Amino acid sequence: MTTTTTTATATTVLDASGVTMRFGGLTAVRDVDLTVNTGEIVGLIGPNGAGKTTFFNCLTGLYVPTEGKVAYKGTVLPPKPHLVTQAGIARTFQNIRLFANMTVLENVLVGRHTRTKEGLWSALLRLPGFKKAEEESRARAMELLEFTGLAAKADHLARNLPYGEQRKLEIARALASEPGLLLLDEPTAGMNPQETRAAEELIFAIRDKGIAVLVIEHDIRFIMNLCDRVAVLVQGEKIVEGPAEVVQADERVIAAYLGTPFEGAPGEAEAAEVEAAEADAQSSTEGDDK
Ligand SMILES: Nc1ncnc2c1ncn2[C@@H]1O[C@H](COP(=O)(O)OP(=O)(O)O)[C@@H](O)[C@H]1O
Ligand SMILES: [Mg+2]
Repeated sequence: MTTTTTTATATTVLDASGVTMRFGGLTAVRDVDLTVNTGEIVGLIGPNGAGKTTFFNCLTGLYVPTEGKVAYKGTVLPPKPHLVTQAGIARTFQNIRLFANMTVLENVLVGRHTRTKEGLWSALLRLPGFKKAEEESRARAMELLEFTGLAAKADHLARNLPYGEQRKLEIARALASEPGLLLLDEPTAGMNPQETRAAEELIFAIRDKGIAVLVIEHDIRFIMNLCDRVAVLVQGEKIVEGPAEVVQADERVIAAYLGTPFEGAPGEAEAAEVEAAEADAQSSTEGDDK
């Protein structure tokens, strides 16, 4: 699609247009357009296998999309992960990827290497002559650990952190590249309700620092609280996008989440099935006002 450059505004941070990703005969992502603006938290939801992670991989240069393009602040990105990070997009992974045998602080320092001249190895090996840059990096890394609530554990090995803190550390490491856009892939997967609430607050605080956020989540309630705007992927296609309240009430979304067979707009039979399921759910949770 070529129209997106004209519809994107000055405040557009991410502008993905016509992104398609095929693996052999499987189209995992089909012609998806998505923008994220300054100051926004945008949610990307959809059933398992909908193509959410694949779409993230296309945004971050891990995959070269079969079709489409991805622009960050008006510049089309080359599909190379380090160039995407350098441009200003950082991410976390659905499956935590930390250096388990490095300390918490070292993990964050690794995240800083795209922003420092001395590079990864001198940061890790502490080569002489890079002392000043290294001190600045450590100070910034400590600031990020304060921000994410991990400062007291700076010297702990990453693998010894409880799960919720490992997720936070991944976020701290992503922030260390000083991004303008943060992509979070299921940041609350495996968290208990308390950790989930803390994660929500952390994401709001990140947004308040002027970093736009695009977040994939399976927990629909979490996403509805958090996001200004939500896009729904089903079988690789974006079927709905809008404000959280609107998306939440959309029957196609309800159908997708209840696992009703889905082909374009729901047919009458499908809609009836959804209604029946809803009525059923309501009667079985009587007295519960959710
Ligand atoms: N590298 C790959 N090679 C082949 N198929 C893949 C690859 N990555 C993802 N897929 C397929 O693409 C579809 C979407 O997967 P994914 O993006 O992980 O979904 P989600 O994150 O929404 O659960 C799935 O059918 C998955 O099996
Ligand atoms: Mg995924």
